[in-house]
Amino acid sequence: MVFSLPLRSPETDPQGASPVPPAAHGLPERFLLTAEHYTNPQWIPIEQQTIFRRTWLYVSDGDRLLPGMVWARTVAGAPLLIVRDNDGELRAFYNLCPHRAAILSPQAGIHPCQKLVCPYHAWVYDLAGDLVGVPARDKFPSSFQKEEFALRSLRLETWSGFVFVCFDDTAPPLAEFLGSIPKYLGQHRTAATQPLAAKQYIVACNWKNYHDNTLCDYHVAIAHRTTLNQVQGPIRHYQHQLEAFVNLLYTPTTADWQAENPILPALQGRSREGFFTYGIYPNLHLLGLPNGLLAWLHIEPLTVESCQVSLDLYGDPEFCPPTETLLAEFEAFMQEDMVLTESVQQGYASGAYTPGPVNGLEARIIHQQQLIWDALATAGAVV
Ligand code: FES
Ligand SMILES: [Fe+2]
Repeated sequence: MVFSLPLRSPETDPQGASPVPPAAHGLPERFLLTAEHYTNPQWIPIEQQTIFRRTWLYVSDGDRLLPGMVWARTVAGAPLLIVRDNDGELRAFYNLCPHRAAILSPQAGIHPCQKLVCPYHAWVYDLAGDLVGVPARDKFPSSFQKEEFALRSLRLETWSGFVFVCFDDTAPPLAEFLGSIPKYLGQHRTAATQPLAAKQYIVACNWKNYHDNTLCDYHVAIAHRTTLNQVQGPIRHYQHQLEAFVNLLYTPTTADWQAENPILPALQGRSREGFFTYGIYPNLHLLGLPNGLLAWLHIEPLTVESCQVSLDLYGDPEFCPPTETLLAEFEAFMQEDMVLTESVQQGYASGAYTPGPVNGLEARIIHQQQLIWDALATAGAVV
């Protein structure tokens, strides 16, 4: 099966399906975000509301949270608590007290917890988020019902043990959002899979710039000739698949890779034959190889011209190369990308750039930028 590549440019196929439907949203007829979208700080709060608060967001591996543990962290600018109760159930709450909005658990990170006690007036919550203790309760009106003041929750779902949260009740279920990922990478995680490495990088570019780069299949054979290109193989074997929220570059594993790597016995068909490089709206990438390696690349906006790129590597140590080797391989092409994305950021900031033509190997960038356009337009934020 060969995946379709429904990218057309208006110059060569004016009747074709446009990857950005300008007329539908009153958008200017162009295919790429402008330099202004990467350089104007006004977009950061708008993006938080119209993009990050409207879709599924990768958090981490759920196995990091043992029963009776709480993880306080910020997601899309909101203070959250990810909780695993004593029965093993995962939940997500806003990390704030319904009484007077105090941050319930000000210490970031994972810690054991059986009860959440607000530091302000000591309301007490259990790990299901229910209010179970109220000091000076007799001083509240008799109409006060503690059942009405549970912690405010948000959606949490997992795929293959990985935790995602969503602020929007109208977003589709996670399994639908992830498209073909569960089908092709659902067997890569086994009982022996472990976190192999995790590392963060601060990059002097807008988060969309780094996302674009990681979606770009035009530069790999050029900028990553001796690194990532050695695993992805020649361009003639590239196969693309564009789905509702995710997109895929599929490449058959190369003979060199097959000679050096064992394959997970449980994998079948395309899952055991290829290298899957998924781009996931709005700021996530998942790479999967038939030795069971799963690599998440997660791009968090910091300022309009800086972001944090997090690399999380998972796999079975019996099947995957040593951690130092893996990290060196990833860092080799990521360092190449950091140079490029920081260079592009300077170009965007120059005031002299308007978007150039789109190559077919940039299809996955266009796919994600259409979703960003749609999100901004739906919220009336695109002018
Ligand atoms: S703000 Fe938490 S108990 Fe008052
Ligand atoms: Fe790259």
